[in-house]
Order: sequence, then C-alpha cells, then structure tokens
Amino acid sequence: MSVTVLVGAQFGDEGKGKIVDYLSEKMDMVVRFQGGDNAGHTVVNRKGAFKLHLVPCGIFKDGCKALANTGMVVNPDELLKELNEIKSAGVDVSNMYISARAIILMPYHIELDGIGEKSGISIGTTKRGIGYAYADRMRRTALRFEDLLDLDYCLERIKKVLPRINAELGALGGKTFTVEEIYCKCKEWSEKMSKMIVEPVSFVNNAINRGENILFEGQLGVMKDIDLGIYPYVTSSNPVAAYAAVSGGFPISKINEIVGVMKAFTSAVGDGPFPTEMGYEDAAAFRGTGEHIDDEFGARTGRSRRIGWPDLALVKYAAIVNGFTSIAICKIDKLDSLDEIKVCVGYKLNGKEIDYMPISRDLEKVEPVYQIIKGWKQDTTKIRDYDKLPKQAKEYIELIEKVVGVKVKYIGVGPGHDEIIVK
Ligand code: GDP
Ligand code: IMO
Ligand code: MG
Repeated sequence: MSVTVLVGAQFGDEGKGKIVDYLSEKMDMVVRFQGGDNAGHTVVNRKGAFKLHLVPCGIFKDGCKALANTGMVVNPDELLKELNEIKSAGVDVSNMYISARAIILMPYHIELDGIGEKSGISIGTTKRGIGYAYADRMRRTALRFEDLLDLDYCLERIKKVLPRINAELGALGGKTFTVEEIYCKCKEWSEKMSKMIVEPVSFVNNAINRGENILFEGQLGVMKDIDLGIYPYVTSSNPVAAYAAVSGGFPISKINEIVGVMKAFTSAVGDGPFPTEMGYEDAAAFRGTGEHIDDEFGARTGRSRRIGWPDLALVKYAAIVNGFTSIAICKIDKLDSLDEIKVCVGYKLNGKEIDYMPISRDLEKVEPVYQIIKGWKQDTTKIRDYDKLPKQAKEYIELIEKVVGVKVKYIGVGPGHDEIIVK
C-alpha cells in the first residue's frame, strides 16, 4: 500500500500530467485535491494527446478511480465537457467521482474574475473564476456539490447568496444573474452528475485502509501557493503536499512518498517576480512556435510562457516546504542543443548571499548566483538508461541532487508516456 503526493516544484506547468500518467500505471486511485480548471495537465499516451483541466490524469488507466476531491473548485460545465471529450477518444470515464464537499464554481465567479482582470487588481489569472469561487467558500456563501443532491435546499441557498453577488456585479458594471438561471443550471448538473458525487472522507480513508495505491495530483506549484508563493501573483489554493491530507481528511502520517516535479529550466505564466527569467528573444529555443504539444504556451490559456534558467534555490525551497522524497525532472531533452546551461544555485540580496527564500518584495530584488554547466550537444530523447545519458547531463542531475538535497528518480526526455528514464 502506498499514498503518494505529486506536486509542482516551481511555478506550475512542470510536467505533472506526464509523470502522473506514468505513475498511474500502478495506481488504484488518482485524486486532485486543490485548484480548478485553471490547470492544464498534458498527457500523451497510447489513447491520444490530452490537456486535462479538472479530470485527474489517472483516468486513462483502466479501473483506476479518479476523484475530484474536497479542496477543489469545480466548474460542472467544464467537467462535463472534458469527460465528453475524453470519452469520445475511447476512454472509460465511469470511474470519475466528485467530492460532495467540493465547491461549485458558478458562472458569476467567471464574470467577476473577468472584471477583476480588466481592473487595477489584475495579476494575470486564467480568468476561470478560481479566486472568486474560493472567496465565496471562505465567506461561506458558496454552493457545494452536496447541494445538488437536494434541489429544494439548493434553491434556498441560491436565493440567499445571489443578491449580494448581483450587487457586486451590478456595481462593477458586470452581467447579473437571475435565481432561475442559476437554479436551472444546478438542476441540469444534478441530473447529469449526482451519481458521481461521493462522501469523500470515507471514500479516501476506506481506500487507504484497503491498502490501495493512491496518488494525489497537485495543480500548479509552490511559487503560486496562496500562503507560500509570490503573493499577490498567486492562485487561491495551497498546491503543496500537506494540503492533500488537509482537504482529504486523512492523517498526514499516511503519506509515504512526496514527488516534486520540476522542469529542466523554469517557466511561469502570469505576473510576479521571476529571478532567473531570460529575455523573450533568448527564450525562443525553449518556447517553440506553438505547433508542438511540448511548446511553451499555456495549456489552459494559450499564453506564451515566461522562460528562465533553472533555479535550484527555488526548487530547494519547494523541497523544504513540501518534504520531497524524490524529484521528477521533465524536459531535459529541451537542453540538448545548448552550449552551456546557467544553473542558479543561490541568491544574493543587497549584495549578500542568502540561504532562504525571501518574501515576494525581496524576491524581486535578488540576484541569482549562477554555476555554468557545459551543454552536452547530444540527442537524449531515445535514451532510457541513466548510465547512457551524456556526462554533462548527469552532472546537471547531480548538481540538482546536491543543491536541493533530494534524489532525482524520474527524468523526462520527451512528452510521451514512455519517454522517461527511471534512475
Ligand atoms: P503540468 O501543468 O505540470 O501538467 O504541465 P503542462 O502539461 O502544463 O506543461 C508541461 C509541458 O511539457 C507539456 O507541453 C508536456 O507535453 C511537456 N513535457 C512534459 N515532460 C516532458 C519531457 O520530458 N520532454 C518534453 N520535450 N516535453 C515534456
Ligand atoms: P498547472 O496545474 C501555470 C497562474 C495564472 C496566474 C495565477 C493565478 O497546469 O500547472 P488563477 O486563475 O489560478 O486565479 O491564476 O496562477 N496559473 C497557472 N500557471 N499553470 C497552471 O496550472 C496555472 N493555474 C493558474 O497564470 O499567474
Ligand atoms: Mg499546466
């Protein structure tokens, strides 16, 4: 039996989808535990190429349960759309479950997010309504999936919460919503989704007690954590490993493994400090044109991602905060043609080396300390054996292990399911 939590070690888009797809071969259940359809997790396997937003990436493994758990904000229309899309690619979606305690992300949350992003408080969100659904949860004015199981109660809740939402929307010049409109949606979701809704705490704990292999799939990465990231340029949830247990309602001591996924360089979407960021032109080789599945364009919004040199000071912070037991590094193949790799191994703040992750405002001022590694100038995409990697690639892996203090276990050398080295 094993409980594994897999999380992003940078700013998101590290390659979590690919690694979850690989690890799910051994899993009985894969669980998303925070975030919503702001996620874009790319999976390329024998069933096709997919960008999943709400459905856990374990859905492709026959018989593996997929749970959208408590801690998530779920747009039911998006979930239904996504399930239909993967079903039409021949994937069995009968094992999809939703926590009764998960928050329903409503059309008005999206409207509010859109208005926010056009105003002075814009931070470059995905405009999916995420922050506003979480705000409603905290104000205790959200609806949850359990409400779809009792439509009379659901209607009462809508009548209570909607006037205040409409007042806010009206004042900001946005579209307002009628009770009938929202109730009609809830009725439709109730008809289509009730059979997927489960009492989540017993669902997860029973699976743990039966000795099942369970993988918790994080969204985004530590630097976008509401508390531990680059506030205010963050998301509204906690994409760190401990939150899988907090939202899942199981003891944290049940977690056996914590896998941190990092990209071989760094990328970020949205605003905020990014110490090793390179110029738009310099990043062209990493970014690609958008034609290929692994080009650096947001899987959710299509925005071109900001690119930077690898930042091990940042990954070390991720390891401290999460307690990684191993690291998965993706896209090592994207460094194949470089003459040299500038690896950030620490920061200087006000001219002095520091050994901690500074708060957001100071992170804007840090100066990366780089160690240069010679490029290997060799194709790594066909390599499946660690010992066959070029010497300089191994040097890079060893530097990661030394600076971060965690062993690298998985190395991605291409976007596909089998394009991986297990060390
Ligand atoms: P996630 O949000 O962490 O699941 O990552 P995304 O799917 O948003 O972004 C990761 C991108 O890298 C996707 O385009 C993947 O297809 C691609 N990718 C993942 N691992 C590898 C790898 O090892 N090599 C290459 N070339 N591409 C990879
Ligand atoms: P995955 O799971 C990269 C970013 C947005 C913005 C900030 C807040 O694929 O790694 P939000 O819509 O959550 O309120 O936006 O977070 N962001 C992501 N960046 N990958 C994601 O997901 C992201 N989800 C949100 O760009 O900076
Ligand atoms: Mg992504």
